[in-house]
Amino acid sequence: MVFYFTGTGNSLYVAKQLEEKRISIPQAIHEEELVFEGDTIGVVCPLYGHEMPAMVKEFLRRAVFRTEYFYLVLTYGKRHGGGAELAKEFLDSCQRQADYINTIIMVDNYLPGFDMEEQLAINPEKKVEEHIEAIRRDIAARKRFIQPATEEDRGWHRAFIERTAGEPEKLWKNLYEVTGDCIGCGVCTRVCPGGCIRVENQKAVNTGENCQVCMACIHHCPKNAIRLTIPEKNPDKRYHNEFIRLTEIVEANNQHRG
Ligand SMILES: Cc1cc2nc3c(=O)[nH]c(=O)nc-3n(C[C@H](O)[C@H](O)[C@H](O)COP(=O)(O)O)c2cc1C
Ligand code: SF4
Ligand code: SF4
Repeated sequence: MVFYFTGTGNSLYVAKQLEEKRISIPQAIHEEELVFEGDTIGVVCPLYGHEMPAMVKEFLRRAVFRTEYFYLVLTYGKRHGGGAELAKEFLDSCQRQADYINTIIMVDNYLPGFDMEEQLAINPEKKVEEHIEAIRRDIAARKRFIQPATEEDRGWHRAFIERTAGEPEKLWKNLYEVTGDCIGCGVCTRVCPGGCIRVENQKAVNTGENCQVCMACIHHCPKNAIRLTIPEKNPDKRYHNEFIRLTEIVEANNQHRG
């Protein structure tokens, strides 16, 4: 069984290669009792500022996993900044343990930092399939491994924390504005794992509350009508993992069911 969190499909793509039984964290988190049993249990999610999304951390804090083997796979796009070590520190802080924590480099969907066209062009160099296969083999063999961080990795994370004054969330709050191109289709409301967006008078309104900064809303808008309030590398190009359908993201993230 694998739990996953995804904004643009990378982490779901990895989860699909690892396990048949997949559970979306934005859906599971609403259960009162989070007790799960399985031979092997895993979590796949992206790294934001080298760390797991707030919702994934909350899930890990509350969930009880009855399993012989627990693993984390963390997707990222450029620099993991010691993400595996940081995830282990987080698990330690809530008296949890993982047998295996690894990272995997994929397309970087962080729009202020990267042009999605360039990201797609260099994607083959990242050898995603080979890395997924290696992780699959590790998990099948129940390998015990926490990806070590180098001093350089730790330096990147320290610099990031200093830049964001210790509160990375601040950097990403109120990042979005909806332009006049919005047609009120509601796609953004359904791909949002935080349930932060609603459509009023044929226009999307983003409350920003519970925002996970996953950027699903901005990447999936069919009219490119959501823009960042800070400079973007290429405002005309958006990204979603080519093997993941929009309906799968909606199924994973929609908070407006029923
Ligand atoms: C707000 C935000 C912060 C990010 N921070 C990092 C980072 O620190 N290092 C990195 O290499 N990638 C970073 N990324 C890129 C994502 O981790 C990467 O694209 C991930 O595979 C996306 O997964 P998803 O498609 O499942 O949402 C960030 C992306 C976002 C949206
Ligand atoms: S997805 Fe885009 S066009 Fe559709 S409601 Fe949201 S902002 Fe408007
Ligand atoms: S508002 Fe956008 S960035 Fe924030 S959680 Fe929802 S989809 Fe993700």
